[in-house]
Amino acid sequence: MKATAVAHPNIALIKYWGKSDVEQNIPAVGSLSITLDGLTTTTSVIFDSEPGEDEFLLGGRKAPGMAGRVTRCIDLVRDRVGVRIRAKVESDNDFPTAAGLASSASGFAALVTAADAALGAGISRVELADMARRASGSAARSIFGGFVELSLTPNGPLQTETRQILESSDWPLRVAVAVTDIGPKEIGSTEGMVRTERTSPFYASWVNSSEKDLAEARGAIARHDFEALADVSESSCLKMHSVMLSARPGLVYWNGATVGCIRRVRQLRADGVPVFFTVDAGPQVKAVCAPEAFDRVAAELAEVDGVKQVLTSGLGEGARVVSG
Ligand code: PMV
Repeated sequence: MKATAVAHPNIALIKYWGKSDVEQNIPAVGSLSITLDGLTTTTSVIFDSEPGEDEFLLGGRKAPGMAGRVTRCIDLVRDRVGVRIRAKVESDNDFPTAAGLASSASGFAALVTAADAALGAGISRVELADMARRASGSAARSIFGGFVELSLTPNGPLQTETRQILESSDWPLRVAVAVTDIGPKEIGSTEGMVRTERTSPFYASWVNSSEKDLAEARGAIARHDFEALADVSESSCLKMHSVMLSARPGLVYWNGATVGCIRRVRQLRADGVPVFFTVDAGPQVKAVCAPEAFDRVAAELAEVDGVKQVLTSGLGEGARVVSG
């Protein structure tokens, strides 16, 4: 009753921000992402034969702030099998946790995958994705590799359906992550989303424009049209940050180096380099580029004032069991 799974963070190109149901954690909009291969979460789950409290270690330490979410997530798998035995969970990230690098996405994707394998539950990947979604909206997308879309399916058997829309090998883009601050973010995404929905005068337009962005991105990916994907992705990112900024009090996730990186990426793109930026609920800038542009993009970002480190990645696989 033990299994270890790995999963990678993903980066949304068409963003999700806002929930239609906070209790059940249902996103207000669909989203589209790429899964990375350069950053990895490894999670082991061991089930005991006894009932009792779960144990959760993150990076070798107790993480009381996360323990409740971890237990509720494993409960979804335990409920499918009809058992109430306790789990010992150990999770490690090879990148900074909770700094806008989507560690909750890879974390919960690896967790449901390992828990399913350890209990031999045989849950389908689409359903595992929906279980991971209940813990963290973006985690559903890390179940799959390459280009991934999460769709809202309120009338279906599951609240969301996530699927791969293109394999990573079909369009092997690369990503340079400019790390500008390694501290945890000031305001978590759920609190930020609730505040945005309640107070931003632009929230309804943000939600209403998402379907069109998703369709545009889907088309661009099907055609391997880099420029079209760059346009719609940058627009989705800036729109998301504009609803964050227009909340009261406004959510400012960026720092000076974030803006410096965005400007540098825009300059490169204006000079004909195939690269675009995206930024999540944190200060890091992810520059997505064609493989041949990667070295130049990474070197230019490393020179921007305030950039601490540039992490490099290609597109990766979905969550998978590595032992057990
Ligand atoms: O996965 P959550 O619920 O913490 O939300 C993440 C939201 C963004 O990363 C900002 C956007 C996205 O779609 O991943």
